[in-house]
Order: sequence, then structure tokens, then C-alpha cells
Amino acid sequence: ITAVDVIRRKRDGERLSDDEIRWVVDAYTRGAVAEEQMAALAMAIFLRGMDAAETATWTGAMIDSGERLSLRVDRPTVDKHSTGGVGDKITLPLAPLVATCGAAVPQLSGRGLGHTGGTLDKLESIPGWRAALSTEEIVRQLNTVGAVVCATTEGLAPADRKLYALRDVTGTVESIPLIASSIMSKKIAEGSAGLVLDVKVGSGAFMKTRAQAGELARTLVGIGTAHGVATTAVLTDMSTPLGRAVGNAVEVAEAVEVLRGGGPADVVALTVALAREMLALAGLSEVDPAAVLASGEAYETWARMIRAQGGDPAAPLPRPAHVHVVPAPASGVLSALDAYAVGVAAWRLGAGRARREDPVQAAAGVLCLAKPGDPVVYGEPLLELHTDTPEAVAGALEALEGAVRVSASAPPSASLVLETVR
Ligand code: URA
Repeated sequence: ITAVDVIRRKRDGERLSDDEIRWVVDAYTRGAVAEEQMAALAMAIFLRGMDAAETATWTGAMIDSGERLSLRVDRPTVDKHSTGGVGDKITLPLAPLVATCGAAVPQLSGRGLGHTGGTLDKLESIPGWRAALSTEEIVRQLNTVGAVVCATTEGLAPADRKLYALRDVTGTVESIPLIASSIMSKKIAEGSAGLVLDVKVGSGAFMKTRAQAGELARTLVGIGTAHGVATTAVLTDMSTPLGRAVGNAVEVAEAVEVLRGGGPADVVALTVALAREMLALAGLSEVDPAAVLASGEAYETWARMIRAQGGDPAAPLPRPAHVHVVPAPASGVLSALDAYAVGVAAWRLGAGRARREDPVQAAAGVLCLAKPGDPVVYGEPLLELHTDTPEAVAGALEALEGAVRVSASAPPSASLVLETVR
């Protein structure tokens, strides 16, 4: 097999054999296939696609490029992955909730890039909290606390790390087989027996249309099933931010409200819906996550999870140096608050990063004082823009142009969970 043959065959619309796929992924990881050759192959895959069997083999080859964790845990393991949204802090209440219900949740997470936030960036706003854990620490914490949210370890799917960086600079990110194999290689290597995927749809999501998101969801479930991981995908709305808080520390504060039995209704509803799917995969469908969440018990698990990673769950969270209030432009009912615009605003205020190596501001973000469907009054506060760098406010306001719509009557209430793919 040569790289040029593999590129030519995919370029001409042929199926790649299992041997060709395994060879090319392995050779690329070792440096024996050049970056420009893999770039050409990624573009050929982008244009020609891969079928379900090719995609499953490609994912397997990326898993085999590194280690697959073997989690020796007494309880059933189940994890959740979101394709990325605005205000999507669901992992924060969900992991301790599902652990409280009896499963073990190994959630290896990433940092944010672009307008979607990263779970690790949010948790790092907690004084002392540490993202980097060894495999031994992960397993110990799963056995003692039941939930761990930490950084992906270096040894998991190194082929994906290399390929994702290459796709990023060659216009080949937006390919469903490449996205799906990238996500699943990392998640399957993590060693969880069950996996729930929250595939976001709408302006704030990677996938802007229901059709694209459905195709991604079916591809993800197909890969999981092919690799023996019980997988469910849920399509959920991302046309408006989840909850009221978008940023880092503000999202942690909102997650804590939810864990204490309060918080915004949409965050509670999605946390409970995803918990039900995870518990079903773990064989624990008799447990009612809504009752456990309302009891406040999950908060105790959260506090143990944060302390186990060096954080102080009782410490005050960072406050912004500057708060800019955006008033409602009219009186009536808030009929739209665009997720993408709010995500970009939070990013410009300092909550996100433009380059992988940039720092983020713990206290930066946007607080939405009203949600679509809520009444608003002209001139009253609608959004709070939080930042340590007041010069960033102008860029955030520019991002928010056209993002808010006020109407005379309430919009039809949109459902949050659009479809479930098993
Ligand atoms: N997230 C990933 O991990 N990989 C992709 O290719 C896209 C989103």
C-alpha cells in the first residue's frame, strides 16, 4: 500500500479497504505518511465521504494509535459528550447527578475554542481545581466519588490530535465521517461502557440544520455500536443559550444552583433528560434523576468531586472587574435571543480563546436576564456583559447586533429535545 494509491482511490470515489485505512492512519501517526499526503486524503474524504463500515474502521485505527483505558470500577460506567453549544454547562450538574444515581462517570473533556465554551475552562474558575489527572487518579476517583471531569490524557487517540490540527488548517473539519470518528475515537478510548451524545442543532451549534445533525447522530451511534459501546444520541436545540449564564465562573454558579435543586428550567430539563438516557444504558432505569436532583444529594457528590481535584467548592468565584448592562430595546415578549451571537459576545469579552494557547478570563461572560418567552420592558436590563477588559465591550455589542427580538406576543415554545437516536 502507498499513500498515493490510497489518496487516488478515495479521490476517485472508491471505498477504502480495512487494511488501507489501518495502514494509512498508523503510518500518518508514525510520521511515515507526510502531512501534505494526509491533507490530500482528508480533502478527498471530505468530498467523497466514507460509508459506515469505513468510518468505523477509521475510528478503530485512531483508537489503536494510542491506549484504551481499562477502567476497573465496580459500578457501570457511562459518559456524555456534547458537540458544543452556548451556555452548555450540562456536564457540571450531570456527572455528579448520574454518579449519585449509582453509575460511574468518567468524563474526559476539552477546552473551548471559538464561540463554544470548554468544560475545563469553566471548572478552572474554581480556586485550586486541577484538570490534569493520571489514569490511576481517574480510576481511584471513579471508585471513591463516582464522577471525574478532567483533561484528556496524552495517550488517548494521538492520531486524532494530529489529524484534527491538520483538518483545522486545511478546510476539512466539516466532514461528518471525520467529525464522528474524531469524537468517537477519543470517547471510546476513554473506556466507558456506555455513551450518550448530545448533538446540538441551531445557530450556536456546529450543525446548523436538523438534517445534518441527524446524520451526525446516526453516524456517531453506528460507530459506537460497531465498537461495542452502548450509544444513544439526542438531538437538542441550540438556537438560544442554555440557561442564563454563558462564560466560565458564571456557568459554574448556575450549575451549583441546579445541583442545589434550583436553576433555570431548561438546564434542569436537559440535565434530567440526559441523565435518564445515561442511567438506561447503565442498567439503572429504575432510579429517578429528577427526584435525586431535587433532593440536593447530587450537590454533595459535586463537592466531593471538586475537592478530590484540589478545588474548594465553597470558595467565592471570581467576579468581573467591569459589568456593562444592555437594556431591552422595546417592551413586549422576548421572542429570540440568538445563541451564536451570545456565544461570540462571551468569547470577545474574554470567556473564550482565539488560539489554543491563549488564556481565558474566569469572570468573563454574558448573563441573560430574560429567556425567550419572558416579558421584557423597554430600557430595563436585559443582558449583563462581564469582563476584566472593558475595551472588549464594543466588540461584544457588535456581535449582539440583531441578536435580540422583542414581539407583541409569545413565540411558540420550542422543544429542547428534538429527537433520540438509538
Ligand atoms: N470535535 C471533535 O472532537 N472533532 C471534530 O472533528 C469536531 C468536533
